Amino acid sequence: MKAVPSFPSYCLVTGTGGGIGKALVKALEEFSFPVAAFSRGGDSSGDLSPLPHPADSAWHFTGDLSDFDRMDMLLSTLIAAWGPPFLVVHNASVLFPRIPLWEEDGEHVRQTLRINLEVPMFWVSRLVPGMIRAKRGGHVFVSSTVGRVARPNWGTYAVSKAGIEALSANLALELPSPLFSFSLNPGAVMTRMRQKAYPDKDPADRKSPEEAARILARFLARLREPDAGRAYNGRRMDLDRLEDRDA
Ligand SMILES: NC(=O)c1ccc[n+]([C@@H]2O[C@H](COP(=O)([O-])OP(=O)(O)OC[C@H]3O[C@@H](n4cnc5c(N)ncnc54)[C@H](OP(=O)(O)O)[C@@H]3O)[C@@H](O)[C@H]2O)c1
Repeated sequence: MKAVPSFPSYCLVTGTGGGIGKALVKALEEFSFPVAAFSRGGDSSGDLSPLPHPADSAWHFTGDLSDFDRMDMLLSTLIAAWGPPFLVVHNASVLFPRIPLWEEDGEHVRQTLRINLEVPMFWVSRLVPGMIRAKRGGHVFVSSTVGRVARPNWGTYAVSKAGIEALSANLALELPSPLFSFSLNPGAVMTRMRQKAYPDKDPADRKSPEEAARILARFLARLREPDAGRAYNGRRMDLDRLEDRDA
């Protein structure tokens, strides 16, 4: 097995205020993978104090992801201290009530496209040039079954996730090796979003966020081995299949 590179590498995760994102920060820490965690509220240790050098453990930044001026400011602080991330996990998303497309509230449509699609495009535009210069790293786009297969009443959320799939696939064609991009469908996970999607009875067997995060973190930690991520470039991954790899 090739050795893990000696340069500092960390993972940037969006949407770490709850659900899969919050659990992922903890799980990555357990794999000694430092994290720059972006959430709307909670721990704001990263906003004002200087970051530890080199990167260790998790560092928390707060702000609404749709506020690109604030994100640019936080990103400058982060990059100055830790350099470009090795991995970017585009996890944050919103889901509004599931109704037919033509009944959706205009503001809900706007917010869904902004958070689920424009925000990942923002991070790609800001982070990829530095990652290319560093000659390493990759993007993981958290997707959904409904971004891959049409199902009724998933509305703009499904459209945004289909967009994420297109973003990941196009980026994969453009990134120079060994950089990489892939999408990841977490499957059914017991979070606030899942509760919103199925307020009455959930038809699926759901994982806890901690279980899903542990499987994902183990896989992501392995991508630190030289060129390991490129093998997944352009792929549509499923968390359930990652589980099989661990068996
Ligand atoms: N759970 C499932 O069964 C399932 C299935 C398929 C795909 N997914 C995908 O998995 C990912 C994680 O979802 P989840 O189930 O963990 O949902 P969740 O519990 O609702 O978590 C989503 C996170 O995104 C954050 N977020 C949303 N808008 C934000 C904004 N403007 N600024 C900053 N943070 C923002 C939320 O912050 P707040 O805590 O501040 O609201 C929350 O922490 C999403 O991409 C989702 O589409 C989930």
